[in-house]
Amino acid sequence: MIILGIESSCDETAIALVKNGTELIAHNIHSQTKLHREFGGVVPELASRQHVESIHPLLIKTLEEGKLSLNDIDAVAVTQGPGLEGALLVGITTAKNIAFLLNKPLIAVNHLVGHIYAHYLTDTPPKFPYMALLVSGGHTQLVHCIDHGKYELVSATRDDACGEAFDKVAKLLGLGYPGGPVIEKLAKEGNQTAFKFPIALPASLEFSFSGLKTAVLQTVKNTPNYKAADVAASFQYCVIQTLLKKSLKACNEYKCNRLVLCGGVVANRTLVQSFQDTCSKKTIHCHSLQPVLSTDNAAMIASAAFFNQEHLLEKKQLNTLSPKPSFQL
Ligand code: KG4
Ligand code: ZN
Repeated sequence: MIILGIESSCDETAIALVKNGTELIAHNIHSQTKLHREFGGVVPELASRQHVESIHPLLIKTLEEGKLSLNDIDAVAVTQGPGLEGALLVGITTAKNIAFLLNKPLIAVNHLVGHIYAHYLTDTPPKFPYMALLVSGGHTQLVHCIDHGKYELVSATRDDACGEAFDKVAKLLGLGYPGGPVIEKLAKEGNQTAFKFPIALPASLEFSFSGLKTAVLQTVKNTPNYKAADVAASFQYCVIQTLLKKSLKACNEYKCNRLVLCGGVVANRTLVQSFQDTCSKKTIHCHSLQPVLSTDNAAMIASAAFFNQEHLLEKKQLNTLSPKPSFQL
């Protein structure tokens, strides 16, 4: 079964062709980073307009690379949310048109579930049950994954998402957008113990990153001649320790020995290395991802659609997208 995946929830337009949920035939991502950089964050209206310009050429390119025509596709999968409304609308409208014209099923996918399914495109997809740590620009969650279509939300952030904290700290250090990659690069030159930032809600599985952001701001204000690399390294260290502590606690509480890392922040190799080192000592199997599959892409959307189709809408309803995601965390 070949699924055409479409993703446009934020600042990446992405198209993918995936066979049987696991085999990546072709995929392309158009990142809008350059467009939004001068504003220090994603400007929703600009994002929507750019999606409109990018989506069609990207579709043609992906079909050409996959040596397929639209007629070879069995179903169309699209990110239904969460995301920027105008941006989502571009992908959803494109997907609806293709599905309608070809009379093919249309499968609506929750973006967060999509991030988890990026792992089914790797050589070692995780076996159920597992604990997923989902860390992106908009969300930070621990999700207990019991089976396809059976996800239990364990905890989430009370305020800022983890990726958002990277972006805001980078902004206050004057490092530009997006913050994650620049903080990670600068942190390599810094001392991670130079500043001691606190882990929020240490006894809880819930997350909170707004206090950390304020702590970084106060440190910068009160430390003349601070070294930005030291701040970046200490901040990143605190984030990694926070995520590690809560993920291990969740694995312990849910008696899970498989931890699955997903979402854009997992592009951070320092984070992945810390998780792998710690998990190996605790006999927890840690699944990580290559950066291109951890940040937003359409292959994960097609994969999630394949594995969850029976849990989604009835076939007759597939061509209607309700305002609510067809399955939610
Ligand atoms: O999953 P994603 O591509 O989009 C959302 O669904 O939000 O995640 C984007 C987030 C941004 O906040 C970005 O700063 C962060 O992922 N990110 C990173 C790194 N690369 C991207 N955070 C830390 N280290 C990185 N190397
Ligand atoms: Zn995402």
